[in-house]
Amino acid sequence: MGNIVVVGTQWGDEGKGKVVDILAEFVDVVVRFQGGNNAGHTIVVEGEPLVLHQIPSGVLHPRKRCVVGNGVVVDPKVLLEEIQGLESRGVKVSPENLIISEAAHLIMPYHRALDLARERAAGKGAIGTTGRGIGPAYEEKVGRRGIRMVDLRDSQILKKKIQDQLKEANLQLKERYGEKPFSVKEVVEEYLGFGERLLPFLTNTSVFLDQEIKAGRSLLFEGAQGTFLDLDHGTYPYVTASNTVAGNACVGAGVGPTRIHGVLGIVKAYTTRVGAGPFPTELQDELGENLREKGKEFGATTGRPRRCGWLDMVLVRDAVRLNGITDLAVTKLDVLGGLPSLKICVAYEYKGKRLEEVPCSLEVFSKCVPVYEELKGWEEEINYARDMEELPKNAQRYIRRIEELADVPVALVSVGATRNDTVMVQNPCKRG
Ligand code: GDP
Ligand code: IMO
Ligand code: MG
Repeated sequence: MGNIVVVGTQWGDEGKGKVVDILAEFVDVVVRFQGGNNAGHTIVVEGEPLVLHQIPSGVLHPRKRCVVGNGVVVDPKVLLEEIQGLESRGVKVSPENLIISEAAHLIMPYHRALDLARERAAGKGAIGTTGRGIGPAYEEKVGRRGIRMVDLRDSQILKKKIQDQLKEANLQLKERYGEKPFSVKEVVEEYLGFGERLLPFLTNTSVFLDQEIKAGRSLLFEGAQGTFLDLDHGTYPYVTASNTVAGNACVGAGVGPTRIHGVLGIVKAYTTRVGAGPFPTELQDELGENLREKGKEFGATTGRPRRCGWLDMVLVRDAVRLNGITDLAVTKLDVLGGLPSLKICVAYEYKGKRLEEVPCSLEVFSKCVPVYEELKGWEEEINYARDMEELPKNAQRYIRRIEELADVPVALVSVGATRNDTVMVQNPCKRG
């Protein structure tokens, strides 16, 4: 059994949490490698939704190990709340099943404040971030001023680093945005308190993962956000502040590329986007609203309504290339039931020219007109389906067309939010 990376092929919220929860049964370790609590990964167990922000979606499986890798930015306050929330639902979280990289960077309260202040000041030009401080935290990391989990071990180092960061952050908050500055003493005390509770979870996670690989155990790397929110390959600047593509699983977990054996791309059967930025297949009409209602398309992190539109296979095809996707999982197929016909975007048109890839220029992308292909819909409810043959013929055709356009096989089809509502065509964790 190999090690696989699971990534979103669109703008996030493809259903990664549900798929990772299902596949966690077949692996030993689930690893988050980028992003932070901007992610909201939903798992529905016995009708109850559980949203995970920083803890990998394998945590509900008692004997599996969950790892928060060095590439993640951790908000310790939110993490502790998340642990508490899980415990109150009877899920035990301890260093036995959760470990955190010492090298992961910390999200600080002033990162959150700066994120919000900048978005407010940007007005109409705002990115529509989740306001969780993700951008400012990664900026400090790249600027080589970041504070890491390991710094929680030493109060003197922590104090010095917070002092240094706050000099700049307070200046910006006060002078530029007219916001309240933070007190060094209060932040240091708060973070030392978090440290006391989190130090037992900290370790060199790269060493741990190496040992697991050598012992023949299998890993699943859980991506957050989606390919088109990637800092390099997404629809810049309407992206997140980390690389979301599969290649970053190696960097963000401290594992070499020779250790990865497959990449599973999650494709929502239609497209959604939260926050600003171009979206060629967006439906700003009743149909879009119906998809939002039926698909419960409201942000798992911020509760914002998600923008909805037809499936854009230009995105998915690009995602196949950018991630080296070997298998696809199509989710939320049930949401498309009851529509007489369905559209799939197969290319874009820009100034009379046909484009087969997402253009680099946002100017061009924002003016791209989708070229659609139309397929017949189906009336039946499909949540009951457990293999492809049980799906209505037109639903099967929809899946086959996705496979053809992506040139990658569909390994799994999700037909409802719960674990059972799944058609497993070929378990990607059980292949060769
Ligand atoms: P993630 O960020 O990629 O993990 O996705 P989210 O959890 O943010 O959003 C996906 C939403 O769709 C969640 O509410 C899931 O419970 C739900 N979901 C996942 N798969 C399916 C499916 O096949 N059908 C339906 N109806 N809902 C699904
Ligand atoms: P999951 O893992 C959907 C979007 C925000 C905004 C942009 C930048 O649940 O799929 P940020 O706070 O990261 O600086 O915001 O990225 N965004 C997401 N959209 N799903 C997510 O995560 C997202 N995480 C960030 O809405 O447009
Ligand atoms: Mg989500």
